Amino acid sequence: MREFKARSVRVPAMVCLLAAMLCTSATAQQDKPAQSLAATGPSETSKYVGAETCKTCHDEIYNSWEKTPHWKTTLNKEGGPSKQGCEGCHGPGADHVAGGGDKTKIFVFKEHSRQETSARCLSCHGEGHEQSHFAESAHASGDVGCLDCHSPHHAQEKQHLLVQNQPQLCYGCHAAAKADFTKPYHHRVNQGLVQCNDCHNPHGTATVRQARTLPSGDAVCYKCHVDKQGPFVYEHVPVKTEGCSSCHTPHGSTNPRLLKVSLVNMLCLQCHTFPTQGPIGPAHNQSAKYQACTMCHNQIHGSDFSAVFFK
Ligand code: HEC
Ligand code: HEC
Ligand code: HEC
Ligand code: HEC
Ligand code: HEC
Ligand code: HEC
Ligand code: HEC
Ligand code: HEC
Ligand code: HEC
Ligand code: HEC
Repeated sequence: MREFKARSVRVPAMVCLLAAMLCTSATAQQDKPAQSLAATGPSETSKYVGAETCKTCHDEIYNSWEKTPHWKTTLNKEGGPSKQGCEGCHGPGADHVAGGGDKTKIFVFKEHSRQETSARCLSCHGEGHEQSHFAESAHASGDVGCLDCHSPHHAQEKQHLLVQNQPQLCYGCHAAAKADFTKPYHHRVNQGLVQCNDCHNPHGTATVRQARTLPSGDAVCYKCHVDKQGPFVYEHVPVKTEGCSSCHTPHGSTNPRLLKVSLVNMLCLQCHTFPTQGPIGPAHNQSAKYQACTMCHNQIHGSDFSAVFFK
């Protein structure tokens, strides 16, 4: 970190020049309203004073901020001053400084709506990042913003600047999920073995429930349960068509194997009529012998050898 600091003192003139060049061409290409944040034409550039100046009055904040990943923005020469340091988030500070700390002349996050503050963060964390689906996420439409989960200056959980660690962070708003994970059978989220984040992207995804998918487009469940993926010579149709949730509750359940219903036969009979007679196999009857379907059909997720999912 120390080397970087030494360098940043030496280059400001070059940074400004570069920024001016890049930003003039950017202004020519873009519509005004869409880039109010990044608006740094040559004349705008002088409205930026740099983080070192902010430090003179806000040294405590500066010193803690310097230890966060956002410090790296000072190395971003392409974006120019509008993407660097304190002003990358708080906007140009020259007027604020000239006014001796005039609060009306600087972007103060707590005085803005979630939509506005999130848009500010997304000016750097949008396209091509984990956050690229945020605008259409359930969180955004539920008026949850970046700052409900992150805090650039007062993060309790240093990694990822979170206001709280998972799953507590999520439980604060999702009581039902909290209850699910205390049921007798559950993914061990409270023990840290699996995280909410493994299955969901809290920043939204292209699919429902902010559920993650694998790069192949398949259900995220296969990431850990590879043996269920196949491809099998004999696929059990719903595994591939309706997905794991047609038989399992992903969070927690009072039923073993996270099944949606307590008795396996009841699960099967939601889709199957009892094979009471027929050209193949035995007539299944109500006797106890036939109730535990998976005793015989034990490769229920698919098989390479048996069309009826025996071994
Ligand atoms: C990544 C964006 C970001 C950067 C970079 C940033 N801030 Fe902030 N700042 C915020 C947010 C968001 C808040 C609201 C409080 C919070 O959530 O941490 C805030 C709050 C503040 C406050 C209000 C007091 C407080 O403690 O909350 C001051 C003063 C401040 N920032 C100064 C600075 C200075 C000085 C720098 C550079 C050293 C800086 N900020 C860099 C986003 C940023
Ligand atoms: C000359 C000293 C000085 C400098 C330099 C300075 N500030 Fe401030 N700043 C202040 C004072 C004083 C306040 C408190 C104003 C108040 O409470 O009314 C303040 C308030 C703020 C606030 C609002 C805090 C709140 O109450 O939520 C933010 C954000 C902020 N400054 C950011 C910055 C940033 C970013 C820079 C650098 C671009 C900067 N300041 C440079 C003196 C300064
Ligand atoms: C509902 C809570 C929540 C909201 C809202 C949220 N985040 Fe996150 N964010 C998280 C969690 C949890 C992680 C840690 C993920 C992990 O463990 O990998 C994270 C990680 C990140 C990371 C670091 C990992 C990465 O993706 O590169 C960035 C950057 C980030 N968030 C930015 C944002 C921005 C910008 C917004 C607003 C547009 C936002 N977050 C909104 C919960 C949230
Ligand atoms: C000026 C551009 C810029 C803005 C605006 C910005 N960030 Fe960042 N952010 C960065 C960069 C650069 C990093 C470091 C990425 C890296 O380490 O590769 C980062 C990292 C992060 C991380 C990851 C920390 C970690 O430990 O993984 C989080 C979380 C984050 N930002 C949240 C926010 C939030 C919330 C806001 C809005 C208040 C915001 N950022 C605004 C540029 C920005
Ligand atoms: C500040 C409150 C808040 C926090 C913190 C929060 N959420 Fe949410 N979450 C909401 C709201 C509001 C919605 C949208 C309304 C709804 O569907 O319940 C939502 C929706 C969701 C959805 C989509 C639900 C659906 O029906 O489509 C998922 C998944 C989700 N959150 C997961 C998480 C995870 C994982 C975390 C922790 C990293 C988290 N949430 C943290 C408030 C929050
Ligand atoms: C093993 C993967 C997995 C984990 C871990 C997980 N979820 Fe989910 N979650 C899902 C799936 C899949 C759905 C969609 C279920 C459906 O549509 O029937 C879902 C649905 C949701 C919903 C929508 C409402 C509901 O219950 O259907 C919320 C909110 C949610 N999860 C929050 C969380 C939170 C908070 C955590 C961590 C405490 C978490 N999830 C952990 C897979 C997971
Ligand atoms: C991050 C890895 C991970 C992901 C993703 C994941 N699981 Fe799991 N799953 C586990 C682990 C580990 C166990 C073992 C349970 C334990 O010991 O706590 C488990 C157990 C299970 C069980 C119960 C096994 C038993 O013997 O009772 C079922 C059913 C299950 N997962 C289904 C799913 C479904 C459905 C999804 C997708 C929505 C999913 N899993 C996603 C890691 C994962
Ligand atoms: C047609 C219903 C059905 C579907 C769909 C389904 N399962 Fe299952 N799954 C079951 C049944 C029934 C059991 C219990 C088998 C037993 O009794 O031994 C089970 C058991 C499991 C187990 C624990 C035992 C083992 O074989 O490891 C895991 C893990 C599991 N399923 C994961 C998944 C995943 C991941 C998906 C989606 C790819 C999925 N299941 C889709 C019915 C289904
Ligand atoms: C969500 C609906 C659904 C559930 C639940 C379900 N199945 Fe199926 N199953 C199907 C479909 C659809 C087929 C393909 C039927 C076809 O091609 O005619 C199939 C095929 C089969 C086959 C292959 C023989 C045949 O008729 O093609 C067997 C054996 C079977 N299922 C057993 C089970 C058992 C045992 C359970 C309970 C553990 C179960 N199924 C649960 C939908 C389901
Ligand atoms: C005692 C072992 C056993 C049990 C338990 C069992 N089955 Fe079967 N099942 C078979 C045999 C044997 C066949 C025929 C296999 C063949 O023809 O190769 C069969 C065939 C099937 C078929 C395909 C037959 C057809 O006509 O399409 C379905 C569907 C099926 N079983 C569903 C179930 C369901 C649902 C349950 C639980 C209610 C169940 N089985 C319990 C042994 C069992």
